[in-house]
Parts: sequence; structure tokens; C-alpha cells
Amino acid sequence: MQNLSRRRVLTLGAALGLAGVAAPSTAWAWSSAGSIAATDTVSDPWGVWDDDTDPLVASLLENGQIPAVNTAFDSWIENGDALPAGLPAPLTAWLQRHNTLPSWTDQAKLARAAQFNKRMSMYLFLLYGLGSGIMSTVIPREARNVYWSEGGADMKARAAKTFTYGYDLNAVDAFQPTGHFVVTSNKTRLTHAAVRHLLPQSPGWRAVTDDFVPISNGDILITFHSLGTFVRREMKSWGLRISAAEDEAFLHQWQVALHLLGVRDDFIPATWAAAEQQSAYALTPLLAPTPEGINLADILLGLTSQVDLGVTRGFQREFARYLLSDRIGDWLRLPRDYASRAVIEVGWPAYVAFREGLSPIIPSGFSMFDRFVRGLAMLFLNNGTSATYTPITIPTGNRPS
Ligand code: HEM
Repeated sequence: MQNLSRRRVLTLGAALGLAGVAAPSTAWAWSSAGSIAATDTVSDPWGVWDDDTDPLVASLLENGQIPAVNTAFDSWIENGDALPAGLPAPLTAWLQRHNTLPSWTDQAKLARAAQFNKRMSMYLFLLYGLGSGIMSTVIPREARNVYWSEGGADMKARAAKTFTYGYDLNAVDAFQPTGHFVVTSNKTRLTHAAVRHLLPQSPGWRAVTDDFVPISNGDILITFHSLGTFVRREMKSWGLRISAAEDEAFLHQWQVALHLLGVRDDFIPATWAAAEQQSAYALTPLLAPTPEGINLADILLGLTSQVDLGVTRGFQREFARYLLSDRIGDWLRLPRDYASRAVIEVGWPAYVAFREGLSPIIPSGFSMFDRFVRGLAMLFLNNGTSATYTPITIPTGNRPS
């Protein structure tokens, strides 16, 4: 078990660049030879936004049409639903172009990914929620954008909308006509286009940003690495059994997701090796604390603490540290609870090993860990059930300064 912990620490430390952080580079140098397009070129995704969507959404915002679009979108939920009636004609034309899967979609891989997500659901809830969610607060551009956008003022509602995306992606029929994910992705892509138009009008955002238009293709790739790449790396380091076909399918699901968010094929990694290379290059060196991120992490962890997970607040903060590293924990000023940490260091690998049938010994903290992961899963699922379904709506303003 000690070996497992040590390997995990080393892998995560190296992956997050914690042994000697490279200076952030300003020019993109990742060759598209490793992308789906497989073109051996280097173009800069930090200078690519969404040309087919941004002018359209800017004009809908300028003409005051977004509230009516959001109302029309209320009943547009399933991938197989007809496009809503009464939308502005250019938006209908946009949806006719984009409300579909890319030509390179492999349905067999998507079906395999769905089964894999189901099998791994407990780990995925934990890793996306407490790992990726908190990591997003140390991605400076993302933290500043989220803080200064409309949703930054109401993180509970924002988290619920993000859960909707995660729930829709992880549903067994995510990409099927009865699933929601294609529709949810289109709503998210339109939301991002709105943010690109709105945030530059925010004096608060302008005062802190290093970017003149938010959410470039490069930024979306960075967020993908904090989600898919991070989660897959963690699952592997925990010794979870992932077949080569499942591994590939999990990547494919994310490749399609990135395409649906408007990322160009020449930036989407074709393999996990290429993804890891891009992540080491584009995510790791850019991680840093910001006042906005520290605030958002505190709010997000506070929201999770409102639910009784059967563990203390200190345990929950230590678990976030355990997933993300103490360096990130220190950046976010997460309080220390050394007793809980000792329990986690020993108990979590033992819990995983028992749960996966890799060890016959029931660890002493089994029921506590079990309640913790199940509690997090319920928190996630409660937002995803139809009773409390929180639809994604396109914002019309920014956080009040
Ligand atoms: C909105 C997902 C990348 C900033 C959203 C929403 C989702 C989402 C589901 C709609 C929910 C909501 O309104 O809160 C994703 C995914 C990404 C990604 C899956 C990449 C894989 C990014 C990046 C940034 C960003 C890179 C910034 C650097 C925002 C902002 C909003 C938003 C500011 C709007 C919040 C509001 O004011 O309502 N995103 N996003 N996102 N996203 Fe992203």
C-alpha cells in the first residue's frame, strides 16, 4: 500500500510539475501532429476563439434577444428534440450546422465510455467534484472569468449548472437521442460566446485580466486537462483496472465533447500520450493562486460542507489537498487537519483496494470513506435528476462590480 501511495504522489507531483515549476511560456509550441487532424503544424489556440458563434451571440445580446432565446431553450433538452420554434433565423441556422456529432465520432467507443463511466461513477464524482472543481480555481484565467461573470455572484446556481453538464456527459445515453449532452454542449458553447462579448465590458475583469477576449480554444483545452486528463491519471494511479479499450473510449468521449464546445480538430489530442504532453505544457506551468480563485474555492468547498458527508470540514479540505497537492492547498489557504490526513493517506488506498477486489482486508475506515464518496455522489446526482434539473442559460450581464 505504501508503494501505491508513493507512486501516486510521484506521478501527481510530476504531472502537476511540482518538482521545479517551469516558467509559463507565452508562445504555443505543441505540434498538431498529435491531434485528431494529424497535421504537423503549430498554430496558437490561445489566439483562436469561435468565429462561427461569437458574432452571432454578440448580435443577439446587442439586440436584446437572449431572454427570449433562453425561454425557447427551456423545452429543448433531449438530443433528439426538434429545434425550438420561434428562434431568430441566424440562430436556427447555427443550430442546424452544429447540433450534430462530428464526422469522426465512433459510436462503439461512446457506448464503451458510457459503460465505463457507470462502472467508475463513484470515483468520477469524487475526482471531478473535489479534484477538477477545485483545480479550476487555480487556473488563473478561469478563476477570474468565473468570478467576474454573472454566475460568479451565485456560485450555488453556477455549480448546479456545471453539474448538469457533468451529469449529462456521464449519463448512459449521453450521446443518444434520449440523452441531453449534445444540447447541453450547444447551450454551453453559446454561453461561452456570450461571456466573450460580456466580460470585456466588465471593469472588474478588465482590471485583472491578462487577456482581451476570454475562453480561447487554448483555455478550453487547459480546462479539459483539469477534467479528463487529471481524472484519468488519478484513476490509474489508484490502481483501478482500466482496459486499453476503456482508456481509449474515455478519451474519445472527451474528444467529441471538445469538438462540441468549438475546439478545432487540430488542437484536440489524438491519444492520451499527446494529451499528457499538452497538459504538461499548457496546464501545469500556468497553475497559480489568484484572489478570485481563493474566494471561489472557499465558496465551493463550503457548498459541499453543507451536506452531511459523515466527515469533518477538516477531513474534506485535507481530501482536496490529497487529490491536488499541498502546494495547491496552501495557495488556496485550505486549513490543515493532520490527523485526518494521516487517516486519508493510509485509509484511501486501502478503501480503493478493498472496493476493487484487490485486497481481501476490510480497512478500518471503510464505512467512513464509503459514506463520504456516496454522499458526494448524491450531492451530484440531486442536481442532475429531473426534479431539480438546472438548465444552462445564456447570461446577459456580468457580476455586479
Ligand atoms: C459557463 C463548461 C471551459 C468560463 C459554462 C457552463 C458550462 C461550462 C457547463 C454553463 C454553466 C454556467 O453558466 O455556469 C465548460 C467546460 C469547459 C469550459 C466543460 C472545458 C472543457 C471554460 C473556460 C473558461 C470558462 C476555459 C474560462 C477561461 C466560463 C464562464 C461561464 C461558463 C465565465 C459563464 C458563467 C456565467 O456567468 O453564467 N462553462 N467550460 N469555461 N464558463 Fe465554461
